[in-house]
Amino acid sequence: MSRTQQAIQEFENTIQEKMRAFEAFLSIPSVSSDPAKKASMLDAANYLKTYFEGIGMDAAAVYPTDLHPVVFAEKRACKPDAKTVLIYGHYDVQPPDPLDAWTTPAFEPNVRGDYLYARGASDMKGQIVSVIFALESVLKTGDLPVNVKFILEGEEEIGSPHFESFVRDNADLLECDIILNPDAGMIDKDHPTIVNGLRGLVYFEVRVDGPKADLHSGLFGGNIANPANELAKIIAQLHNPDGSVAIPGFYDRVRVMSDEERREIARIPSSEEEFLAVTGSPALYGEQGYTILERQGVRPTLDVNGLYSGYIGEGSKTIIPAYAFAKISCRLVPYQQYAEIYDLAEKYIRSLVPPTVKVSFIKHSGGPYYFADDAPGLENLVQAFKDTWQKDVIFKREGGSIPVATVMQEILGVKSILTGVSLPDDAIHSPNEHLHLPTWHKGVQAYIRFLTSFDA
Ligand code: BES
Ligand code: ZN
Repeated sequence: MSRTQQAIQEFENTIQEKMRAFEAFLSIPSVSSDPAKKASMLDAANYLKTYFEGIGMDAAAVYPTDLHPVVFAEKRACKPDAKTVLIYGHYDVQPPDPLDAWTTPAFEPNVRGDYLYARGASDMKGQIVSVIFALESVLKTGDLPVNVKFILEGEEEIGSPHFESFVRDNADLLECDIILNPDAGMIDKDHPTIVNGLRGLVYFEVRVDGPKADLHSGLFGGNIANPANELAKIIAQLHNPDGSVAIPGFYDRVRVMSDEERREIARIPSSEEEFLAVTGSPALYGEQGYTILERQGVRPTLDVNGLYSGYIGEGSKTIIPAYAFAKISCRLVPYQQYAEIYDLAEKYIRSLVPPTVKVSFIKHSGGPYYFADDAPGLENLVQAFKDTWQKDVIFKREGGSIPVATVMQEILGVKSILTGVSLPDDAIHSPNEHLHLPTWHKGVQAYIRFLTSFDA
């Protein structure tokens, strides 16, 4: 049996105990945005450290930051001149809300058929353990031909506020030749996928204040502006009838796609039916003149992520709300600058606000678009994927955002390989998030092949 086959066999032989370890990790409610979960964040970090120690890493440590800690671990290769792969991951997860939409509780992992249900199963605790388990099986069955380092942060889902300073302060520790970031996914379970571009992000809140308190709508309605009405009018002016974003200057830096680029994208299998099935929406929507994949990967968007005003409890309450607010984000494409887009958005929204209400803004996270077409180590992973799925790898521009890739490129000088075994219908950031276990198994096999590929 080949060295690689031995490692794959070791993984298969120990799958029961690995699933138990995976489920224990998933049971920790590591919600980075929830101040009440601070202790769970530390639990999750320590869980990883302990697991790393158990598989014989040379170093494993939890580094505090001003908010949630970073886990670092390292295993040196058997030979002195070996390359170094740095694996990035985030052990934090999105809030599980709405809780009553889950069939089984978010932090009580549950296997139903081929799927493992839990918050973080797909994004991205499952992806973290897929690489750790791959390394574990390689270590148990022979020599490690490549230095392996892990950097696992706890703040990705809140925009990685302390990641940049951590990487800057620990650049020597993190020195590497290759970065593998398995925080993305596949187009479907039959096509291994490597992401060659990501969208950027800018996220902010708009608050409209009217009266000093909620008012009786009969006594005051008609004389006092209603912040909910006014915010709705503002939001309605953020898009043009053709679906494009109405903020002046929004598209100034966006390049027109070349015919070749459009042909590339059109080669990727995708269908309207699939999109509708995954989302459950009654019909597709989008900027006119673009295909689904173009809208997802290459066109910028603006979306309201949350909207709140007035009385939303049982029954009715006749009021003019004192305030209304909306959480808004834009996905950005090359070469839009997130700070500039924020300024344009704020300026435009201010211009829409009537004197009858007051507006204020809160700026949340931002991050740039990313190109990853020529990351070092790409050929090794492409071959590992091909050998595992017996299919050619699909290269895709993805709609999500992974701002840490830019941070690491700027500080460590290495581009990230962006990939993963998450599937479009895994319900990440949604209730009933799940992981397709057969695909995840293949992922572990592929990462074993990747790690052993540095043998030559
Ligand atoms: N894993 C996702 C990003 C992702 C998902 C990329 C699928 C490609 C395919 C990640 O955890 C995430 O959700 N990131 C945030 C970033 C933001 C908070 C800065 C996002 O994209 O909303
Ligand atoms: Zn993620």
